[in-house]
This record gives sequence, structure tokens and C-alpha cells, in this order.
Amino acid sequence: MTPDTCWSDLRDSAQALKPRHLSELLSDTRRFDALTFEHDGLLLDLSRQRLLPETLDQLVALAEACQLQQKINDLISGKPVNCTEGRAALHTALRTPAGKSLSLNGEDIVVGVQSTLAKMEALVTTLHSGQWRGYSGEAIDTVVNIGVGGSDLGPLMTCRALSDFKPKAAQGIELHFVSSMDGSQLSGLLSRLNPATTLFVLSSKSFTTIDTLANAATARQWLVDASSLDTEVILRHHFIGITAQPEKASEWGIPSQNQLLFWDWTGGRYSMWSAIGLPIAISIGMEGFRQLLDGAHSIDSHFHQAPLRENLPVLLALVGIWNINLLDIHAHAILPYDGRLAHLPAYLEQLEMESNGKSVRLDGSATQGHTCPVLWGEIGPNAQHAFYQLLHQGTESVMCDFIVPAKRYTDRGQELQQQHRLALANCLAQARVLALGDKALDDDSASAAPPWKRYRGNQPSTVILLDELTPYALGQLIAVYEHKVYTQAVIWGINPFDQWGVELGKKMATAMLDELDNPGLSGSLDCATSGLLQRINTLREQ
Ligand code: F6P
Repeated sequence: MTPDTCWSDLRDSAQALKPRHLSELLSDTRRFDALTFEHDGLLLDLSRQRLLPETLDQLVALAEACQLQQKINDLISGKPVNCTEGRAALHTALRTPAGKSLSLNGEDIVVGVQSTLAKMEALVTTLHSGQWRGYSGEAIDTVVNIGVGGSDLGPLMTCRALSDFKPKAAQGIELHFVSSMDGSQLSGLLSRLNPATTLFVLSSKSFTTIDTLANAATARQWLVDASSLDTEVILRHHFIGITAQPEKASEWGIPSQNQLLFWDWTGGRYSMWSAIGLPIAISIGMEGFRQLLDGAHSIDSHFHQAPLRENLPVLLALVGIWNINLLDIHAHAILPYDGRLAHLPAYLEQLEMESNGKSVRLDGSATQGHTCPVLWGEIGPNAQHAFYQLLHQGTESVMCDFIVPAKRYTDRGQELQQQHRLALANCLAQARVLALGDKALDDDSASAAPPWKRYRGNQPSTVILLDELTPYALGQLIAVYEHKVYTQAVIWGINPFDQWGVELGKKMATAMLDELDNPGLSGSLDCATSGLLQRINTLREQ
């Protein structure tokens, strides 16, 4: 079958299914078994999606027609799938266990990956044992990661998610994340941190990102001022650089022995598995970090080997394609029912929207239909008191991902266990009401209610159920989303590994900085920008 025939079959199915409410579909008692999929302790429940098991067969036929299996092989074997930048996207190699090999341009890259892990381990041990000392000889007790986008969100999200997994040795180290270019996070921190015991980790794949370099320069000056020592001494004791551009890090002043490197075949938003994950390893120890990699590797193998019809990331992607391209749903909410996953929505916003927010295909032609939807989210229970009103009674169709661990607080008091039960109950209840609307009520009272009290339902959702939120399970979860993004990109025919759309804004901001200092410099600004610029400069001069 050709992709066109598959799309046409799917359109027919969508026409037939659109009038059918989820309450009707869910009356088929076989549905849960037919539409839940499991791999290595991770459960994907698609039973509240507005489709039938046969629809999945049709979607799989589309994936086959788009040669998905071949494209998965290309990704994992290191073909240059990032074609606009002429390179591979080998985040899967970062979690390949020692002993295996993968050749890229004649080099076994697993060897390099393992040797970086060994360097990270040595560094983590030095820090945990109080052997990394600041300029005064005191042990480092505070680490500040300075980075943005992929050099911030992965470590930030993971450190928060796995905060229960700190080994004893890590408990004496305070960890902070600074990303915003305006200095608001850093200025607050600097006023309360002790310079003598603070280590800065500069995380930047390119080592040219102005946000990161601006924060880094402020931090460096703070240390020089506090210590009255040479910059060179400060840089040696208080700065680590993590980058794919060692010359640029050296130019900035990071001594080579304080550099941890990764490779241009690791995309920024796919880099938490590389040396960029150092804050994670500092927080949960190297053993925990390796469990995270193992969880992701388990999904990599599954993605590579499982039949498409049982393949968790593929199914998650196909359901997205169904919602976006066949049911015309263009909003996607990420709703974790576990406060430790507070940063997961922000992480997935970058992963999905920076990867698949594209409208040009690999051959340069325009995409036929919609690609990545607008994605946002919040801890589910908090979102219930914020934007769920729109989900329940607004005019937008929204697809939702509920993410929840079955077990939590198993070794804690009754009260906390009860709180987890409460979160579980809310997660199940919300998924149910979104699907069924007021038909979720057992009696007929809904039909007598006024219109403003009615619930339409029919909002599709997926539930991802983890056994427990562990480093291994989080690694699985993130890898599922990464491969979902790749699968969708294959079907849309786009490159998920570049981000040319953010470059122009960066270039323009540099030019605008000169305009702020020398108004009228270019003489070619539009009236909206020059009007605002004048107003700002007047206010700044007052
Ligand atoms: O702004 C886009 C981007 O390039 C992201 O893709 C990346 O994660 C982020 O900036 C940070 O880049 P770097 O790690 O090179 O500082």
C-alpha cells in the first residue's frame, strides 16, 4: 500500500468514527484488553482514545508504508538522519551498555561514551567525598548548573523527579539550576550562596549560547570579586564545562581537565544521557544515573525490535497522528499525577515542539497537513484548579496524557500513602470524566441539569502507568517520548533533529543589543520596534 492509500483509508475510518462518542466505544468490555500495551513494567492505556483496535491496524499500515522500520534501523545504526545538518542522531548510543559496539566513521563510539561515563564517575566521587575544593580549601557543597534548553531542562526535570533517590553521599550537596538570560535566577542565588564552596557547571553544547555565557560571566565575576584571586585560579577551582566544542570552552577559560565532552551527534534536547547529565549523576549517584540509562536502553531495544503493532513509542506516535491529522485535534496536555514530575511538561514541550514544530519536509516541500500540536501541561492535580475547566467545558478538543505511578510512599506513613491514593483516584476520575462526560454519572441526573452544568466528554486521553517512579522507569518514559517524536517525524516526512526556526531570533537579538546602546544605528527598523525602543530608552534615561 502507498501512504496515500493508507491516508485515504484512515480518512474513511475517521468519518465513520467521528460521530461515535467515547461513552459508546467504552461500552465494549473488551476494549481495555484490546487497547493496552505493556513492555518491561510500563503500561500504555489507549482505551480512552477515539479509535477502534482496527484503526491501529490501519495506522500501522501507514507507518509501514512510510518505511518506519527501515527509518528506525537508520536512526539506531547511525545513518545521517539529521540530514539538514548532515549528521547522525545517536542518543541511543549514549545508553548502549559497555561491551557492545557501534561504528561511526570508523570509530567505535560506545568506547568514547563509556570513557566519558568513567570521567563523570570520577568527578562525582570527588565531589561526594568532599575532595573537590574551592579557592579557600573548603569542600564544595553547592553546585549550580548554568545552561538553557536541552542543557538545562533534562537535568532539571530528572533531578526533581528522582529527588527520593539521593544516596547518602549526595545529601551534603545542594543543587541549583540557572537558565534565564535576564539574571533573575542567578542574582537571587548569588546573594545567599557561599562563593568559597560553590561550583558552577557550564552546560552548553555549542558554548556560544548568549543566555548561558551571560550567566557564566556574572558568576565568574562574583567569584573573582569575593576571593580577590586571579580569574585563572577561580576557573580551575569553581568551573566545569560540558560541551561539544572544547576549543570554545577553553577560549572562555575552562581548563581542559575541567571539561567533560560530548559529540555533535547528540542533539541538545536529546542530551541528558550524555555528560550534560552530570547534575543528575551528582544528585542520584552514578549507579542511579546508570539505571536511568538502562531504562532508556530497554525502550531503545523494544523500539528497534518489537513489531510495530506492539511497539509502545510507535503506538503513542500513531495515536497522536490519528488525533492531529484525522480528528483535527491540535492541543495536547501533559498531566503528570505526581508532583516529582513537575518539570516533565516543560521538558516535553522542548522535546516535541522544537523537534517537530516544522512545516517543511525533508525534500523541501511543504507538509501536507498539521504536524506538532501545541503542547503544554502542569502537575495534574494543580491543573484541575487551573485549566481543566477548558478541558471539560471549553470549545477546544484536547488530547491528554495522564502519567502516574501505581505505587508511591511504600515505606512512609499512612498519611502520605493516603495522599498518593488521592492522586490516583483523581487521575482515574479525570480521565473517566473527560472520556464519558456526564454519562460517567450512574443515574440520569445529568440530563436534568442546566446546560452550564453539562459535561460533553469525548476528550481523548492516554494513561501511562508506571509501576513506581524510579531512575529506570523515568529512563523508559523519556525514551518512549523521544521515539514517539521520531516516529511522527518519519510519518510527516520532517527532520526532528534540527531547529533552524530559533536561529533568526538569536541573530536579531544580537543586532537589537547594538540598537539599545546606539538608537537608530541600523536605520532600518520597523515602526513597531523603533517606537518601543525609543520609549524604553526614554525610560532608561530618566
Ligand atoms: O535555542 C535552541 C537551542 O539550540 C536548543 O536546541 C538547545 O538545547 C539550547 O539552545 C541550548 O544550546 P547549547 O547547549 O548549545 O547552549
